[in-house]
Amino acid sequence: MINLGVNIDHIATVRQARGTAYPDPVAAVALCLAGGAGSITAHLREDRRHIQDHDMERLAAMPGLHLNMEMGATDEMVAICERLRPLACCLVPEKREELTTEGGLDVVAHKVRLAAAVKRLTAAGIRVSMFIDPIPEQIRASHEIGAPVIELHTGHYANYSGEQQALELAALAKGAKLAGELGLIVHAGHGLTIENTPAICAIPEIEELNIGHAIVADAIFKGLEQSVIDFRAVMVR
Ligand code: PXP
Repeated sequence: MINLGVNIDHIATVRQARGTAYPDPVAAVALCLAGGAGSITAHLREDRRHIQDHDMERLAAMPGLHLNMEMGATDEMVAICERLRPLACCLVPEKREELTTEGGLDVVAHKVRLAAAVKRLTAAGIRVSMFIDPIPEQIRASHEIGAPVIELHTGHYANYSGEQQALELAALAKGAKLAGELGLIVHAGHGLTIENTPAICAIPEIEELNIGHAIVADAIFKGLEQSVIDFRAVMVR
């Protein structure tokens, strides 16, 4: 069975857009678990555009929650993660101007800095994964610096169609195979939808998918009618 990690960032995005206390991403955890999620992913960005420190603290304090803290490999984030001790941590590249994580980490180019982050987090008992494109050199470098897990970036696969998408899918399958041979645990995520997820699930080495945007988007349409019904119900004189 492939584990589904639900990324709850965009519940916080809606909250931050209005500066209200709701919707609370932490309150969504129970619903995600009830629906069959095995883990919860949240990205504490340097610019705090969605998930806030108090969200991460409350998530980390939830008993038994399999929390995957997504973050850039900065000193600030490593120190927060060491203190909160989530079960897992996914290191991602982060640019201030990007709309979302735009590509995988360049582990080859930043090997020394990333190795130091992996060492510190591992020493704190956190299972570290490297978010990388399905490039053999990046997979090997992740293995060399001691990361036990990689998360393959499916964003390009998700954005492409036709032949280009088939090529990207083949690269993901090849990358997952190599990672499996090296003894790495393989996750995948970014841009996955109901439509494009099944082909990714056919890759045997993939043990976990992290999905956020499309689940939150889907939930709006599955819940909107009931919300209107509930508001109509209180509109009485
Ligand atoms: N995995 C990683 C490493 C990510 O950065 C993101 C986006 O925050 C996701 C998975 C989820 O991507 P999406 O929101 O497109 O499903």
